[in-house]
Amino acid sequence: MKEQIEKIMAELNELKCQTDKEVEEARVRFLGKKGEITALFDEFRTVAPEMKREFGQRLNVLKKEAQAKIEELKSLAVSAPSQTAAAEDITLPGDALDLGSRHPVSIARQEIINIFRKFGYDIAEGPEIEDDYHVFEALNFPANHPARDMQDTFFVSSGHPNPLLLRTHTSSVQVRTMEKMTPPIRVICPGRVFRNEAISARAHCIFHQVEGLYIDENVTFADLKQAILLFAREMFGPDTSIRMRPSYFPFTEPSAEVDVSCNICHGKGCNICKGTGWLEILGCGMVDPNVLEASGIDSKKYSGFAFGMGVERIAMLKWQVNDLRHYFENDLRFLREFSSCVEV
Ligand code: PHE
Repeated sequence: MKEQIEKIMAELNELKCQTDKEVEEARVRFLGKKGEITALFDEFRTVAPEMKREFGQRLNVLKKEAQAKIEELKSLAVSAPSQTAAAEDITLPGDALDLGSRHPVSIARQEIINIFRKFGYDIAEGPEIEDDYHVFEALNFPANHPARDMQDTFFVSSGHPNPLLLRTHTSSVQVRTMEKMTPPIRVICPGRVFRNEAISARAHCIFHQVEGLYIDENVTFADLKQAILLFAREMFGPDTSIRMRPSYFPFTEPSAEVDVSCNICHGKGCNICKGTGWLEILGCGMVDPNVLEASGIDSKKYSGFAFGMGVERIAMLKWQVNDLRHYFENDLRFLREFSSCVEV
């Protein structure tokens, strides 16, 4: 065994390698699983006990020497040229990076937010998983009231007096804002909402809303009308007119639905406005005194208005997209249509 150790040591001293490949071969030859030094370690087990100490030391020195030598050779070796290297033309121009662009729903959402920011509204956000109280109860939907059917709900937990659910509108954020703040309050609440609806060209189970709330002394329906008119003109162009139709929401009284004049046919009637000249954009109304009181606001002193719109719907009208599902499928051919929309 002693001779073998000396022989390998001598070979290691003489060892010369040119390329990475040769260094690797040498490593395998000496230190690989079936390598010469590894074999000596196996043999070491059969060495007589009184010799073990001496040979053990020699073997360890040999192994360390071999490892150091291989490392040294590795650092000196030149990488063998790869076979494809010659074929590569490093002077060719690189591949252009696909930069992507903002999603149309984000663009529309940001545009709505910017308009209301200009009017002095703050932004409020709240949880997507909400409780029954903030989505329904505090908004004047008593338990088992049929108005709850207007918004088919995904429940997260049931059997509890205040079950958790996915919010069906961001009016819940308005409730949370009224709980926290004292009037004057002027906020918009952008966010994702969820309804248990069959997916079609006009409805989806997830969509985005921007809702707004304004509470102060002496706020009237005329203020609401003016705010919505100004918004519509900023969003759809200065010639836009609006009309309000009576409607019903449990949390507002009186309530209205708002239409804008069709920006495609300018009132003449086309297939987008179904020949009527008008397009529905949002729901609104004067905050019901019950809602103010539920959140601790004195309804004798204060009044306010609220409104809520679907961002996808506004985006559909703005860009004349006739199927809501385009906004969720993320077909690049569709998304690229918006790449030139100005970042706002
Ligand atoms: N929360 C209503 C909805 O989601 C919209 C709305 C908001 C209506 C505020 C009136 C006032 O349908």
